[in-house]
Amino acid sequence: MDQVFTPVRVGRYILPNHLVMAPMTRSRAEPDGTPGALAVEYYAQRADLGLIVTEGTQPSDDGQGYLTTPGIYTDAQVAGWRKVTSAAHAKGGHIVIQLMHAGRMSHPDNTPHHRQGVAPSAIAPGTPMFTAKGMQDIPAPRALTTDEVRQTVTDFRHAARRAIEAGADGVEIHGANAYLVQQFFAPSANVRTDEYGGSIANRARFAIEVAAAIADEIGADRTAIRLSPGTTMWGIDEGAEGPDLYRYLVAELDKLGLAYLHIMHQGNESLLADIRERWKQALILNRPGRPREQIGADVASGLADLEAYGQMVLANPDFVARLKTNAPMNDADRTTFFGGTARGYTDYPALSEAVPA
Ligand SMILES: Cc1cc2nc3c(=O)[nH]c(=O)nc-3n(C[C@H](O)[C@H](O)[C@H](O)COP(=O)(O)O)c2cc1C
Repeated sequence: MDQVFTPVRVGRYILPNHLVMAPMTRSRAEPDGTPGALAVEYYAQRADLGLIVTEGTQPSDDGQGYLTTPGIYTDAQVAGWRKVTSAAHAKGGHIVIQLMHAGRMSHPDNTPHHRQGVAPSAIAPGTPMFTAKGMQDIPAPRALTTDEVRQTVTDFRHAARRAIEAGADGVEIHGANAYLVQQFFAPSANVRTDEYGGSIANRARFAIEVAAAIADEIGADRTAIRLSPGTTMWGIDEGAEGPDLYRYLVAELDKLGLAYLHIMHQGNESLLADIRERWKQALILNRPGRPREQIGADVASGLADLEAYGQMVLANPDFVARLKTNAPMNDADRTTFFGGTARGYTDYPALSEAVPA
């Protein structure tokens, strides 16, 4: 367990510990995609983690899927993020912005432009989503043309440049959880007949091109990617070839020398071991629902270099201090995860504020 409290190199940085705040959408941005004023405090409160990965942040208008998520492509958004990164740095933290293009997981009622979602193919995910008018089925997206796929790669590159301008320590490409990048991997969402569909190499191409473009733009040692091999939610089915796609993809990404690979583990242990074998840089592992008693075990065993935690960090601004002192953790309140005010966002008490029983 003590090992997680020691410094570790990730890309160009030495982080003070092996603990990572997992990316979490909080849907509290301004309507123009500028991070809300409270985001500054929220992230600064959690700067004791070795690394903060921000909430999913769209690289372009079309990348937005949910209500009031932030972007990182306009001047106003860059200025807003600069306040967040400055506050995290002032507290000794490190912060990377997660670049999330929702692809087909988007509803026209959720975006200022109200356009149809875009995706590898015109196949609806077959699931409802929360919108400004309550739960609604997600309509079928529009398939990107080949030129538009290339333009989307450029959008990611541009967003990464803007993230650095905003003071971020790097970016994490969201390649997990059924959003655009993973939609390219899955035959259930990608029936393209150009070089971005069909074979494993073709379905992995978009992710590799995005990673290569960003690495070229801001340096591989500030570029990272998150994957969730085997995700089955929201109509994603990677098929029997899924594990082989990840073996290929991770080996190709490894050649780029990225800062880290972040795995949101879905349960395939032998694939995880294969990924570890193919990945030479830092590996961050997130095991959803991991109990507190297990924290540090994956770093201790050498399976992971760092461990990421979501809900426990959301609910405990002083997560690291609580771990070190074996203090009890606050429980996360699911009703305040998305949207709303300071409640369930910046008002979780730290130990020093806790009222003695
Ligand atoms: C409120 C909430 C929002 C989330 N948003 C994102 C996101 O924007 N990007 C992402 O990659 N994962 C997102 N996740 C998944 C988390 O990063 C993490 O993988 C998940 O919560 C499981 O880890 P945990 O059990 O430690 O919370 C979100 C999870 C929660 C609870």
